[in-house]
Amino acid sequence: LEDLLAEGVAGRHVLVRSDLNVPLDGARITDDGRVRAALPTIRRLAEAGAKVVVAAHLGRPKGAPEEKYSLRPVAARLGELLGADVRLASDVVGEGAKAVVSSLADGQVALLENVRFDPRETSKDAGERDELAHAFAALVGEDGAFVSDGFGVVHRKQASVYDVARVLPAYAGGLVLAELDVLGRLTGNPERPYVVVLGGSKVSDKLAVIEALLPKVDKLLIGGGMAFTFLAAQGHSVGSSLLEQDFVETARKLLETEGDKIVVPVDVVVADRFAADAATDTVAADAIPEGWMGLDIGPRTVESFAAAVAGAKTVFWNGPAGVFEMAPFAAGTRGVAQAIADSAAFSVVGGGDSAAAVRQLGLPEDGFSHISTGGGASLEYLEGKELPGVAVLGEEG
Ligand code: 3PG
Repeated sequence: LEDLLAEGVAGRHVLVRSDLNVPLDGARITDDGRVRAALPTIRRLAEAGAKVVVAAHLGRPKGAPEEKYSLRPVAARLGELLGADVRLASDVVGEGAKAVVSSLADGQVALLENVRFDPRETSKDAGERDELAHAFAALVGEDGAFVSDGFGVVHRKQASVYDVARVLPAYAGGLVLAELDVLGRLTGNPERPYVVVLGGSKVSDKLAVIEALLPKVDKLLIGGGMAFTFLAAQGHSVGSSLLEQDFVETARKLLETEGDKIVVPVDVVVADRFAADAATDTVAADAIPEGWMGLDIGPRTVESFAAAVAGAKTVFWNGPAGVFEMAPFAAGTRGVAQAIADSAAFSVVGGGDSAAAVRQLGLPEDGFSHISTGGGASLEYLEGKELPGVAVLGEEG
C-alpha cells in the first residue's frame, strides 16, 4: 500500500478487495468489526485522492443475485463510519457497476454488489475467473490498481482475491500486512508457554489445525461442540451432544500421543434441548445424562482453562467454548475470554465467531493484543498452508 501511495493515486481508480462478510440479523449488522477493520486502507486511499472501488462478498450465494445477500446494509454502515456517502452498485461488473464507478469523483468511495452474485467469482475454472478478473480491471481502467485488503478471504482462490491480482498492478493492504505480521509471531518463535484455546462446533473443520499446532504448543485447550468428540474418545457417553463419530478414532489417537498437551472439559453445562429456555444442569464430563446435550463448558473447566491461560506468555483463541449466543450457555466463552483479556500474554483472537463473542459479551477489545478478522484464513495460516491471495502478491513482486 505504501508503494502505491508513493506512486500517487490521485485521480486513479483503485479496486480494494475487503472482507465485509459480517453477521446479519435481517438487514441489521450484528457485528461490524470487519467493516471497521476495512476502514483505514479505504480511508487512506480516499484521502490521497483515489476513486475507491470496494469489492466484497457476503455469505455464500449460489452465483446469482439474492436479496438477502445484498451488500446494501454494509454500504450504509461503511458510509456512516467513513462519514461520506458510499454508493452501492446494482451489480458486480455490469452496467450498474460501470455507471457508479464512472461517476466517482476523486476521494469518493463506491461498493460493488456482492461479488459472489457472479458465478465466475468462485468458479473452479481458471478461465472463467480470469474473465471476471479482466472485467474488474476494465472497470478501473488503464491506470487502475488493485489493493488486496480482505485478510479473511485470502485463503480463497477466487477472482476478486487471486485472479485479479494477476491482471492489475497489485498491492497488499494495511490490514493484510498487519494480520500477517501478528500471525507470523505465532508461527515464528512464540514466547512460551504457548497456549491455544480451540472451540467451535466441528472437529472435522479444526483437525488439520490441531495436528499442525500440537508440536508447537505447550497446551491445547479444547472446548465448544468439538470437545464432545474428544470426551467420546475417552470412553464417556456424551448423551445427545454434538458428536462426530467418524473422528472419534482420530481424537483417541491424538489423546494417546499428545495427551499431556491436550486439555478437555472436566464438567459441562447440559440442556434437555437446544433452546435458551431449556432445562439445564452442570454435570461432570463423564456423567452426561442420556438424552441431554452439552452446550457449554462448566465452571471447573473454565477455572482450569483460566489457570492455563494465566500462566501463558502467548495465547491464541479460536472458536467459542459454548453456545454463547444463548445466555445460559455463555459463561464458558465469557470466562475463557475474560481470562485471556486479564492475562499479560501476547494474545490473538482468530475467527469471526470468537471476535463477535468478545464484542457481544461486552469484553474490552483492548484486553487482546490482536483480534483477527480472519476465521478460516487465520487457521490456514497457522496450519502452514499457502494463502493464494497472499502468494499471488509475492508473484507480482
Ligand atoms: C469468512 O467469513 O471466514 C470469510 O469472509 C470467508 O468466507 P467464506 O468461508 O464463505 O469463503
